[in-house]
Amino acid sequence: MTTLITGGTGKTGIKLARLIHAAGHPVLLASRKGVAPSPFKAITFDWTDPATFENPFKADPNIDKVYLVAPLILDVLPVVKPFIELAISKGVKRGGVYVGKVHEYLVERGVDYTVLRPTWFIENLGEFHAQNIRENDEILSVTKDGRIPLIGTDDIAKTAYDALFATKSPNTDYFLIGPELYSYTEVRSDLSFEFNQLRRLSQAAALLSETLGRKISHRHLTNDEEIAIFQQFGISPEYAQMLNHAESLIAEGIEEVLVGQSKAITGTHKLRDFIQANKQLWIKE
Ligand SMILES: NC(=O)c1ccc[n+]([C@@H]2O[C@H](COP(=O)([O-])OP(=O)(O)OC[C@H]3O[C@@H](n4cnc5c(N)ncnc54)[C@H](OP(=O)(O)O)[C@@H]3O)[C@@H](O)[C@H]2O)c1
Repeated sequence: MTTLITGGTGKTGIKLARLIHAAGHPVLLASRKGVAPSPFKAITFDWTDPATFENPFKADPNIDKVYLVAPLILDVLPVVKPFIELAISKGVKRGGVYVGKVHEYLVERGVDYTVLRPTWFIENLGEFHAQNIRENDEILSVTKDGRIPLIGTDDIAKTAYDALFATKSPNTDYFLIGPELYSYTEVRSDLSFEFNQLRRLSQAAALLSETLGRKISHRHLTNDEEIAIFQQFGISPEYAQMLNHAESLIAEGIEEVLVGQSKAITGTHKLRDFIQANKQLWIKE
């Protein structure tokens, strides 16, 4: 039986696909481009075009599990619900998703499910923040000194795999966090040497500075500045506003309190190792 991965070519999807393939199970990737690296099979699928929802089931009638990466819009359920209905009618028995309203709907429909609620990704530093670090030696955010248990996408993929292939489906939601708390900030000249030594191992800008051998700073943005940057990445104004609000809550400690929550699964991947292994992402061209 086959697992369908929507967003299959994305950061978590492709890692989940590799885990499923390595375990000897069939997997089908869906995305707008419908192109995947070997040995994977991909199919065109677009959340904005319901006519494409049938494509995966036409390509493979044996799909029984779905990993669902929802579209980047605020009101996800009206878009995703017809696809869930179609998937159930085609024999899908178990799914894993990211978002709240979809969670409630899956409970209502009585299918096996797992909802993953990851905190912010380690890989954002090598993707969303990468160009500005390369060109201007800066991480930009509204997070101030707020700390995040940054999660690696390998850990998200592993949790998704475990949930999809467990003998008994968890039928619950999990927070996914990394093993260490980090702020985006830097070593500060107004703090004592000793205090900076204590803080520097948990500061993304300080870690980058050490590894790259040049000074990387954290620059605090206003909300309007950050919203404008999100929109430059092609994010809609409403979604950019929601992301900015979520980031501004980091400054108030909203992500830090996930550590120790009973529903939190803690991964093993650390920001420092990601930075060490991917230096080329931030080297000036
Ligand atoms: N970054 C973070 O810190 C963070 C934190 C928490 C949660 N999240 C959530 O994580 C999810 C992102 O997962 P990810 O990082 O694995 O994905 P990703 O790397 O952002 O890749 C997105 C995937 O979705 C596909 N896609 C984009 N638009 C699509 C559309 N309209 N219809 C169908 N497929 C589409 C893309 O392929 P094509 O371009 O070929 O379509 C790609 O395969 C999002 O739901 C996000 O909200 C992110």
